[in-house]
Amino acid sequence: MDKLIVEGGHPLHGTVRISGAKNAALPLMAATLLAPGCHTLHNVPDLRDTRTMLSLLEQLGVRWEREGNTLRLHTESLTGAEAPYELVKTMRASVLVLGPLLSRNGFARVSLPGGCAIGARPIDFHLSGFEKLGVRTHLERGYVEATVEGALRGGIIHFDVPSVTGTENVLMASVLAEGKTVLKNAAREPEIGNLIDMLSAMGAQIEGKGTGRLVVHGARRLCAAEASIIPDRIEGGTYMLAVAAAGGDVQISGCEPCHLSALMEKLSLCGVDMETGAGSVRVACPAGDGKGLFRPRSVDITTSPYPGFPTDLQAQFMALMARGDGTSIIHETIFENRFMHVAELKRMGADIAIEGSRAVVRGVARERLCGAPVMATDLRASASLVIAGLSACGRTEISRIYHLERGYENMAAKLRALGAVIEQVRE
Ligand code: EPZ
Repeated sequence: MDKLIVEGGHPLHGTVRISGAKNAALPLMAATLLAPGCHTLHNVPDLRDTRTMLSLLEQLGVRWEREGNTLRLHTESLTGAEAPYELVKTMRASVLVLGPLLSRNGFARVSLPGGCAIGARPIDFHLSGFEKLGVRTHLERGYVEATVEGALRGGIIHFDVPSVTGTENVLMASVLAEGKTVLKNAAREPEIGNLIDMLSAMGAQIEGKGTGRLVVHGARRLCAAEASIIPDRIEGGTYMLAVAAAGGDVQISGCEPCHLSALMEKLSLCGVDMETGAGSVRVACPAGDGKGLFRPRSVDITTSPYPGFPTDLQAQFMALMARGDGTSIIHETIFENRFMHVAELKRMGADIAIEGSRAVVRGVARERLCGAPVMATDLRASASLVIAGLSACGRTEISRIYHLERGYENMAAKLRALGAVIEQVRE
């Protein structure tokens, strides 16, 4: 088990390149199961989660090669239709093979994902969506067994909440269904747009990309395709918040500024200067307290589905607000238990009170936010502790950083290249 040691008080300077998006790579890798052949995916980040997805695909009979950030996946001869508990328990997104396997084989057996640190996270929308396409599902010893007699049939699916992986899973089950499928109140995240581009390159007919109403005209067959993974807007947003917290002037390159507008709106209210270019955002903090440390204005946020403020940046934004110049209300509306980082930030001297789904963050002066030993509890909580460590006095020791490695490619090295004093050591 490794931990990260972060020394605060070093403003960041230079350029950081953003990797491909974890939450796009996972569904696009699963989508390759839909059609036999050799698929090529570019800009695939090398993360714990993408490696888990590769292990799962391998178990299903997929052969693959990696060349840098390019993956070639050979899906000609699948040998299985089961996603085992051992893999699903390490990564809930494994459930994304359910739709493609149903389309390809008419049968799939996937371990039911349990709850996770941030919430219960059921998959009932996924299953009820499949049932609208003629699938019968039942739970057998912790596994969802899904079967369809004959071909899947088009239907109308309405999501009570615009579920991201729910939309992706049902979409992948509908592209080979007979007739037309309509997904209403579907999620609109850019990662879904990336999946739609991949499916269209495979021969699928999907209308409504970027909207909450997707119309799918079932295709008779699909073929292998080539696609690129979009930049990771959550990684990009995390680095923007790191600069705002640590101070400095950084060019974030290889990102898609328009995917980050909700965050940029809030950061400009905080007093951060930003300049967008083609595929880049420059983030600069006005010189602050003479030690180059900028103190942000306190701003409220409410998380919501895209294009609203992403829940995956809530914890990182809170780390910035810990040093705000007033009080910030952070309202988490997506997950019922996504304040696990609060207790750890308070160990560093932050002044935060939780009131139901709201956190009241009273900003403290720099000298009151001090490095301490803290523990990561989930992926984005670990990123918020790194950001707090960058702006705190002294050294912060973050344990259980395996959470971080699930979704950030070489974070310590990227931050060091920007001038951060950070190292990964064995516990
Ligand atoms: C995706 O999770 C992301 N994961 C999450 O990122 C992200 O936080 C989330 O979307 C919201 O943006 C991937 O894309 C792999 P949802 P997902 O279904 O699809 C409820 C990260 O840090 N719900 O949109 O699982 C659910 O409990 C991760 O990278 C049901 O009730 O989220 C939640 O309250 C964390 N029944 C809400 O809907 C269902 O069947 C939205 O969840 C499905 C969801």
